[in-house]
Amino acid sequence: MSIPQTSAFKLRRPDDWHLHLRDGESMRAVLPFTSARFARAIVMPNLQPPVTTTELALAYRGRICSSLPRGSAFEPLMTLYLTDRTAPAEVDRARDSGRIFGFKLYPAGATTHSESGVTDVRRIDAVLERMSEARMVLQVHGEVTEAATDIFDREARFIDQVLAPLAQRHPRLRIVLEHITTAGAVNFVRAARPGLAATITPQHLLLDRNALFAGGIRPHHFCLPVLKTSADRAALVAAAVSGDARFFLGTDSAPHPRSAKEAACGCAGVFSAHAAIELYAEVFEAAGRLEALRGFASEFGADFYGLPRNTEEITLRREPWRVPETYPFGPDELVPLRAGETVAWRMAA
Ligand code: DOR
Ligand code: ZN
Repeated sequence: MSIPQTSAFKLRRPDDWHLHLRDGESMRAVLPFTSARFARAIVMPNLQPPVTTTELALAYRGRICSSLPRGSAFEPLMTLYLTDRTAPAEVDRARDSGRIFGFKLYPAGATTHSESGVTDVRRIDAVLERMSEARMVLQVHGEVTEAATDIFDREARFIDQVLAPLAQRHPRLRIVLEHITTAGAVNFVRAARPGLAATITPQHLLLDRNALFAGGIRPHHFCLPVLKTSADRAALVAAAVSGDARFFLGTDSAPHPRSAKEAACGCAGVFSAHAAIELYAEVFEAAGRLEALRGFASEFGADFYGLPRNTEEITLRREPWRVPETYPFGPDELVPLRAGETVAWRMAA
């Protein structure tokens, strides 16, 4: 007996609550993928040098908007990069701009371009207090950085040692634990006080750590936090499809030139913007919960950020297509997630 399959699925236009757009010609290469799918995206500030002030964020926003395809209504939601020296007054400037929607906490040294990040969260308590008053969201890269902590344990240790105490010290601060990767993180978010949520990437829903070593080392599956076990992946899928509004879409699409990924010391980041909503649709369909994609992709994030839900719709069709091996990326090229393989859903133009 054949199982009836949905052939077309309409949903409110989604938003991406965690995205790396880079700058210059790299940005121009990847932006159209996101603006074709998403109405808005939270844009990460880890440029070089990092986006640490309202002035820098507004200038970056201007460069993004002027690079959009003609007629696009895509809205970049800007964030600022916290450092040990961020002043509480920057929070007021950010809020008053009306264009900045959060501050990103990178523990110094945790990931790509995090060298200027925070060395000890106690140093930014005054900023976090001002953020609570201003109702600004804190976006967290949740990993400790000591070399002595095993890379697979860094998220768990961060939650226990840094995030749980921080959330208690700042009970009204709205916090998004970004790109969660473990069953422990799922349980932490479920048990947390109100005002704490998490984003989940497509790669952490689709892959476990074996994908890093399938037949040889696979640099294009390397991101931070690193992929975890199949049990962790199952817990992430269960959370995403559960309809719990504390879990929502954030791709963490993070493009790097092929030459920087396929290197003796390849950098962290998976590029997924070319098929982001389509890949999430695969996950939700495989779990028999396609309907739950609506909340996860298009509603819960907007509600958490206190922004209106989008009103337009997009259509996904069950129409397999082959992902190119590479996309152009300035003078280099970009290897996308699923390169040379098939994606089950296609977005209708
Ligand atoms: O894999 C990652 N890539 N994780 C991050 O936290 C940063 C990102 C990037 O900017 O490339
Ligand atoms: Zn990221």
